[in-house]
Amino acid sequence: MKQDMIVILDLGSTENTTLARAIRDLGVYSEIYPHDITAKELAALPNVKGVILNGGENRVVDGTAVDVCDEIYTAGCPVIAVDHPGAKCEGIFASLPDEAALKAFVFDTCGAQANWNMKNFVEDQVELVRRQIGDKKVLLALSGGVDSSVVAALLLKAVGSQLVCVHVNHGLMRKDESENVVKVFQDELKANLVYVDATDRFLGKLADVSDPEEKRKIIGSEFIRVFEEEARKLDGIDFLGQGTIYPDIIESGTKTAKVVKSHHNVGGLPEDLQFELVEPLKQLFKDEVRACGVELGLPAEMVYRQPFPGPGLGVRCLGAITKERLEAVRESDAILREEFEKAGLDKKVWQYFTVVPDFKSVGVKNNARCFEYPVIIRAVNTVDAMTATIEQIDWPVLLKITDRILHEVEHVNRVCYDLSPKPTATIEWE
Ligand code: XMP
Repeated sequence: MKQDMIVILDLGSTENTTLARAIRDLGVYSEIYPHDITAKELAALPNVKGVILNGGENRVVDGTAVDVCDEIYTAGCPVIAVDHPGAKCEGIFASLPDEAALKAFVFDTCGAQANWNMKNFVEDQVELVRRQIGDKKVLLALSGGVDSSVVAALLLKAVGSQLVCVHVNHGLMRKDESENVVKVFQDELKANLVYVDATDRFLGKLADVSDPEEKRKIIGSEFIRVFEEEARKLDGIDFLGQGTIYPDIIESGTKTAKVVKSHHNVGGLPEDLQFELVEPLKQLFKDEVRACGVELGLPAEMVYRQPFPGPGLGVRCLGAITKERLEAVRESDAILREEFEKAGLDKKVWQYFTVVPDFKSVGVKNNARCFEYPVIIRAVNTVDAMTATIEQIDWPVLLKITDRILHEVEHVNRVCYDLSPKPTATIEWE
């Protein structure tokens, strides 16, 4: 392994992630581990140059006072504590250290090198993946999202033709999205790609289903079923690649952090389909995943795309999905994205999309009364998707988008702009 590491031990602080980010921003790699790591486990980690005990004010986890085991203090590298007068270590930060204090600890006290960068990361991971997979084969569900695309590019670099990607088009993708996955991975990068057009199958299962959670469940379970069927057709696969990233792991809980939610990217596969997981991005934050994609040569539009929900346009075609309204969502979304790009808003706005509800309103087209669907535009900014504010789009841009949607999208006679922040609204409509 090329990079030095500073280990953060989680003693109940809510700011482990902030601290890990701050250290990585200095160019030094950092990982978070539970407080009860043993000295042996710590010694087994590569290139540890220093340890930070991060307990905030009281070091209480779930009502219980916690501490690290004594041997950590004598494990051979500098140990510092955040706000813990009783600690038997070299020093104490009264609060989360500022940049100067952190630099002094990381570089002067620990002697760490600023050698954390994507080039080294990719080289390390390629080596680790090759060691793990050997001459076996690895399967990957390639949705075309940032995480699965970057995993695909990394695995391709590491094991080439031993990688088999499966792309399931559930018919709820944005315009040209599946075509782009095929173009980039099959045509340009020459990956083994199994393309499955399961549009009719998904739309069949979703017919007449109007409850949003029910729709999500059907899309999720049908996805696993299709993927499983494809996996069974392939021989001799031992490994499954997954686009797990660091926030997934932190949110799923270190031993001390409460479990916020559990993540199963392609969880739910039947027990007789046993794969060993390959998760080369599991130590990266989202922006680092994007940087890794750039390092691997993926196109910018793939790496810097806005978040897109797993159930795709299925939760933007409100109520029971029909082909007519699904097409209206897809076409209006494509126009919105095109105009946002022209106006430079694609780099500024966090998430933007259109929604088509399942009711009609009266309008007039070609001097005749018409009864058609509205399109709702949504554009929001957020840091963590827990709260969001709306983007105040300039009128000329909004009017241009409205004009194009009304003239280019069939079955639509009205365009609305959603002004609601989260809360009270959610970002998606379903
Ligand atoms: P809400 O609508 O809850 O959305 O404010 C917050 C963020 O989560 C995305 N989202 C989903 N992502 N599967 C996903 O992978 C889903 O079922 C899902 N629902 C919402 C949403 O696009 C936004 O970025």
